[in-house]
Amino acid sequence: MARILLTGANGFVGKVLQRRLLKSNHEVVGTVASPPASAELECDYQVMNICDRAQVEAVIQRVKPTHLVHLAAVSNVAVSFKQPLLTWHANVIGTLNLMEELKAHAPECFTLFVSSSEVYGESFKSGQLLDENATCVPMNPYAASKLAAEHAVMQYLRQGMPGVVVRPFNHIGPGQSADFVTASFARQIAWIEAGLQPPVLKVGNLDASRDFLNVHDVCEAYAMLLDANRDQLEHRMYNIASGKSRQIRSVLQALLAEATVPIIVQTDPDRLRPSDIPLAAGANARIKEAVGWVPTTPLAQTVRDILDYWRGQALLEPPD
Ligand code: GDD
Repeated sequence: MARILLTGANGFVGKVLQRRLLKSNHEVVGTVASPPASAELECDYQVMNICDRAQVEAVIQRVKPTHLVHLAAVSNVAVSFKQPLLTWHANVIGTLNLMEELKAHAPECFTLFVSSSEVYGESFKSGQLLDENATCVPMNPYAASKLAAEHAVMQYLRQGMPGVVVRPFNHIGPGQSADFVTASFARQIAWIEAGLQPPVLKVGNLDASRDFLNVHDVCEAYAMLLDANRDQLEHRMYNIASGKSRQIRSVLQALLAEATVPIIVQTDPDRLRPSDIPLAAGANARIKEAVGWVPTTPLAQTVRDILDYWRGQALLEPPD
């Protein structure tokens, strides 16, 4: 049994991951930036701002984790364009605070640092499946900050601390913020069906393609890496990808096919970005070989689950 410190425990991924880790009988201590609503967390938790070094030190000294999963981050590309300082500070300095305090108080702790496939950036323009050796040319502040944080973590791994860096591709599911594409579209459909929004669905760039994964499959990959024997983990970097790319337009069509009312689609210039990766798809041979992980949830199922979730939320969270 491991004692796992999970940053960002009340985020979209954190909530799914804590449940998955508790199911394996691990002890999980989540960290949250501010006290959560009572039903939000199933694990023990500590309030901790990753940018506050003293708070990070106190939590690591108290918990003495055997494993760290570092999820807490500014993770939205559009937000990172608007708030680059916040993004760099949280994603790089926050990560360094954690690694410094682990080095001082729990140097044997195994770190799973959650980076992002966004770090490949311009390399996606080749249109090929990218593996972990592809060149990283970030195209936005979020991706650049994640790449910088990867380099920071790698320095500690080089010095002998155990751990891996993962680069997950787009993961989606019920509970994700509507700042992200599938949640945004599904929430609008749910509002339109409930008569809370005129029948016009606002969209950004529909030409882009992404390698979509179900959040439960991604959390399964994290759990498998945490449970792996160290000699299974020959590499320090792992893509978490399906190897298939789906155009945003086709995901929208899948959602619209489930809608119970007619809907008009309209481009909203505010949803277009200064630059956008046209097509992203990742090779997953390395993680498959290391721990036997493959994604298992069909995208059609995930899309239906997301829409059902937002139908349930529509009356609880109506538009402003
Ligand atoms: N958010 C959003 N809203 N995106 C839209 C919309 C819209 O209304 N319409 C089209 N898109 C397009 C975006 O331009 C982008 O091409 C694609 O849909 C996916 O956008 P997001 O869901 O915001 O995700 P992302 O690809 O920018 O980044 C996500 O994936 C990364 C992993 O590859 C995030 O989850 C990152 O945190 C993550 O690291």
